[in-house]
Amino acid sequence: MSGSNEPTAEAQQQTQARYEQQQKAIEQRAGEIQHIILVMSGKGGVGKSTVAVNLAWALALGGESVGLLDADLHGPNTALMTGTQDTRLGMRNNLMQPAIAAHGLKVISMAMLLDDRDTPTIWRGPLRANVLRQFIAEVEWGQLDYLIVDLPPGTGDEPLTIAQAFPDADGVIIVTTPQQVSQDDCRKAINFARKLELAVIGVIENMSGFVCPHCGKETAIFSQGGGETMASEMGVPFLGTLPLVPEVVTMCDSGRPLTDQQAPQAIRDAFAVVVGAVNDHLAEQEN
Ligand SMILES: Nc1ncnc2c1ncn2[C@@H]1O[C@H](COP(=O)(O)OP(=O)(O)O)[C@@H](O)[C@H]1O
Ligand SMILES: [Mg+2]
Repeated sequence: MSGSNEPTAEAQQQTQARYEQQQKAIEQRAGEIQHIILVMSGKGGVGKSTVAVNLAWALALGGESVGLLDADLHGPNTALMTGTQDTRLGMRNNLMQPAIAAHGLKVISMAMLLDDRDTPTIWRGPLRANVLRQFIAEVEWGQLDYLIVDLPPGTGDEPLTIAQAFPDADGVIIVTTPQQVSQDDCRKAINFARKLELAVIGVIENMSGFVCPHCGKETAIFSQGGGETMASEMGVPFLGTLPLVPEVVTMCDSGRPLTDQQAPQAIRDAFAVVVGAVNDHLAEQEN
């Protein structure tokens, strides 16, 4: 049946032309970025955004020029976590201007386009894919040493769009908690990366052990060691563990970097190990 709702041949051509133009712009932006790292996991709530934001900040603090692309359109938390949630995106030369967070970190998040923080994004896949491609093509990212992409949980539309937009990305960091349910979902994320021929930089086990601030005793609230076991079974590097620390919640909620002197030593030390492992991996890949 040829319904009247079908796009005309002319409209299809225009859509295709726009897509190709956008693709060219994406390739041009990617050419100006030295390293592209995707942060993903099978599950939500495991600390992807926390890792993405603080990896970005750690690199920026080291003097690198860093961008953070929030690809979680339904749960755009990086704006709050970087203290840029009240920024409305400005335009210059027809390009969106990223918000500038502490240490010069450039951030783009759906949260900056919503009327208020309780407004949901109710879009089907093709619209979400298009806005993500705009977040690359139509943003003045400039020359970057690193672009960190914070992905939503799972292996759906958004990771696929980002992976296809950046076929030459350095790779994927997988964040898991120690529980079996998280590990199982992360195996899927690793196989997703493999199918798309993206390197797996490694696995981070977050919320791994809690040291009681009162008695100093360590409790494995969500169990421990599962991330490392899963990494070795899947044949991918293990980048380190991050402990469960209550201050992480308050610092993330108030947009403060975990690299700050005020952050508990345990989380700062653990982050330094993870960032060091990521840097070692990138240096190895370059050689
Ligand atoms: N190591 C940690 N210790 C304590 N709280 C954490 C830790 N990592 C993350 N959180 C908290 O857990 C919640 C979920 O983290 P988030 O990064 O948003 O997960 P995701 O992006 O995977 O959904 C946030 O409130 C965050 O502050
Ligand atoms: Mg998140």
